[in-house]
Amino acid sequence: MFQGVLKTLELTAEINQTVNFDDFLEKIYDSFIDYIPYSYIGIALLNSEKNSNEVYIKGSYGVGRNQKMKAAMTDILGYEVSLLKTSLGNIVETGQPRIINDLEEHVEGKPIKGYNKILLRSGIKSSITLPLMINESCIGFIFFSSDRKNVYKENHISFLRVLSNSIAIAFQQNIYIEDLLYSTLLALTKISEEKDKDTGEHLIRMSEYSTKLARLMSKDKRFKGQIDSKFIVDIEKFSPMHDIGKVGVPDNILLKPGKLNENEFNVMKNHTLNGARVLREAENNIVKSGNSVFKMGIEIAESHHEKWDGTGYPKGLKEYEIPLSGRIVALADVLDALLSKRSYKDAFSFEKATEIILDSKGTHFDPDIVDIFIDNIDEFQLIYKKSLGREKQSMTN
Ligand code: C2E
Ligand code: SIN
Ligand code: SIN
Ligand code: FE
Repeated sequence: MFQGVLKTLELTAEINQTVNFDDFLEKIYDSFIDYIPYSYIGIALLNSEKNSNEVYIKGSYGVGRNQKMKAAMTDILGYEVSLLKTSLGNIVETGQPRIINDLEEHVEGKPIKGYNKILLRSGIKSSITLPLMINESCIGFIFFSSDRKNVYKENHISFLRVLSNSIAIAFQQNIYIEDLLYSTLLALTKISEEKDKDTGEHLIRMSEYSTKLARLMSKDKRFKGQIDSKFIVDIEKFSPMHDIGKVGVPDNILLKPGKLNENEFNVMKNHTLNGARVLREAENNIVKSGNSVFKMGIEIAESHHEKWDGTGYPKGLKEYEIPLSGRIVALADVLDALLSKRSYKDAFSFEKATEIILDSKGTHFDPDIVDIFIDNIDEFQLIYKKSLGREKQSMTN
């Protein structure tokens, strides 16, 4: 039933995926650390998808060996800012690298921007920024950052240029293919999502609720060490795909206005295993090195309906047997389902939805995750309100 899509995905099979990009960056980091002073290498990518007039830049990858700095820099991953609000525009225009040898001095006397706060908090004191060029156009930036001041010299630039070219090539080879596949899968998800849900807002909210939970949890001692920056990037990417397996559920079940009977619900339950299968098959087309690029996607598709007390599906896993990503998305999914109108139910108020989730603490949901959710309830309500606002606006347009 997924043949058409898998055919499209096969197109990418020809192209050899050598290594996973994160691993490649780590290798770069370790290979040159003795020659160039840095304690963190970051990549931020440009995109103009959101709004045709405005270009955004988003912290996208980062490697470091100082665990404290790396943990603090997690906040930069997924951080998005308008290019105009940064001083990076000049690098795009000229293609010339920039050295900041004292970040504190660089920001002095100006209101400190959010991303600079993160850099300072992480202990970054100086940086050299190069444009990430593919086919002569700038697609983002590479930052080499140090925890010491005044370490970057003009003579580092020519070497780092060569290095950033290699990074750009590896990026192009690995990420473009991965992105192509990822976009195809997201488009596939939308096919069924748009049938039983109002707008694409659902996918955005799933990502925002899940990422918010993961970020808050990464700072909580109960989850210390379990959530790193890659986890956060992955959950942002893959939480919207949790129901990708619903493309295989017939419309008469998916869109049934009333309650599903037992047979129908059994078919519905298969969306978990089917989703995991689609992602696994897609992945088989690109992975040549034994790296699983969709590992978390597969995990989430399969486990987002498991319940803490073992009464969920498809496997009846309980407590810590359920992957952490699945436990997070389970809460985000139900929150969004409760707050939304479906063919079979009306929307609940935010208060009622919160109450239902609190009631399911320790039965449906990981009790620690529920605690963190409740302790930060305002932040979730804000995500919800902003989304409602965007939905209203798109309806009046
Ligand atoms: P969904 O609509 O996205 O709902 C996801 C999950 O949110 C549900 O998983 C359930 O755990 C929770 N949920 C949704 N509505 C309510 C509610 O009114 N009260 C409470 N306490 N929890 C709620 P579940 O039950 O495993 O269902 C998975 C999917 O199966 C649903 O995704 C939906 O697509 C479909 N489904 C479930 N029940 C029905 C139904 O009675 N009629 C139809 N047409 N589809 C249903
Ligand atoms: C970084 O250092 O990784 C990114 C900084 C930014 O987004 O401006
Ligand atoms: C900036 O001030 O625009 C960026 C500083 C940096 O990322 O190093
Ligand atoms: Fe589901």
